[in-house]
Order: sequence, then C-alpha cells, then structure tokens
Amino acid sequence: MTSTPASFATFLDLLVEANQGWARNASVLGFVFADRKFSSRDGSDNALAVFDSGAAWMAMTLQARTLGLYTHGMAGIAWDRAHAALGMDPEQYALCAGFAIGVLDTPETLPEPARAMERPSPRRPLAEIWRQVG
Ligand SMILES: Cc1cc2nc3c(=O)[nH]c(=O)nc-3n(C[C@H](O)[C@H](O)[C@H](O)COP(=O)(O)O)c2cc1C
Repeated sequence: MTSTPASFATFLDLLVEANQGWARNASVLGFVFADRKFSSRDGSDNALAVFDSGAAWMAMTLQARTLGLYTHGMAGIAWDRAHAALGMDPEQYALCAGFAIGVLDTPETLPEPARAMERPSPRRPLAEIWRQVG
C-alpha cells in the first residue's frame, strides 16, 4: 500500500517521530502488508504470506535501484494504529514494515539527530563486507 498526494500526511503520521523527521522528504511512503489468505484462490490460509511479502519488498527495492531510486525499510511505525488508519483488516492482513522511496540527498538536509548519525557514517566500507571471487 503506497501513499497518494492526498494520503501522504496520513502515512507520515503512522511513523514514529524520528522517522517522520527524514521521511517527510521522501517521494513515496508505504506499508507492506501480507495477505494471510489466498484471496485469488479458495480463501485458505497462506502460511508463507509474510515470507512472500519480504521477497516482494526486496524485488521492489531492486527495481527501485534499477530506476535510480532508493528504498528505506522501517520498523519504527505505529503498529497499534496502522491497520485501523489504513482500513486494513488485522485478521486478514499482517503488517510487515513501513518503507520510503526517494532520491538520494545530502545529510545537510536532515534534521538532528539523523544528521549527526551520518557524519561520520557508521557504515562499513563496501570492500570490507563484499569480495568478488573468480
Ligand atoms: C528490522 C529493521 C528495522 C529498521 N527500522 C528502521 C526505522 O524505523 N527507521 C530507520 O530509519 N531505519 C530503520 N532500519 C534501517 C534501514 O532499514 C536500513 O537498513 C539502514 O538504514 C541501512 O541502510 P542505509 O545504509 O541505506 O541507511 C531498520 C532496519 C532493520 C533491519
């Protein structure tokens, strides 16, 4: 489920304050829900619904990168309010995560404390965690 211009404020309100600080500049906000039922089949339980949704999220992330966009997953969401606010039946839909899609920006545009967390970046150099073989 992704935001429209009209629903962006509703989606933003479902993020914890720390995430709202940077996510308000995102192009799109969204929430991943797993449909626990095989709606397109016989309505029986899909035991792999959450697994499938995680795979779909990763596919969307890879597609975003192909298009030059970036995604950012979030657990800092209003788990207790999201179903009701988005009209999703909690019996049928398992909430998995929130996410943002957008373009890369500089840390200077971030509010504190997010900005301080980027300078210096805590990320390990790619070469430290990735090695080409063959
Ligand atoms: C389980 C989990 C929950 C996360 N929740 C948040 C969150 O609420 N807000 C946030 O800014 N980043 C959160 N992150 C981190 C980002 O999703 C992302 O993985 C991290 O920022 C690394 O990507 P980056 O180097 O592009 O920032 C979470 C990561 C994990 C694994």
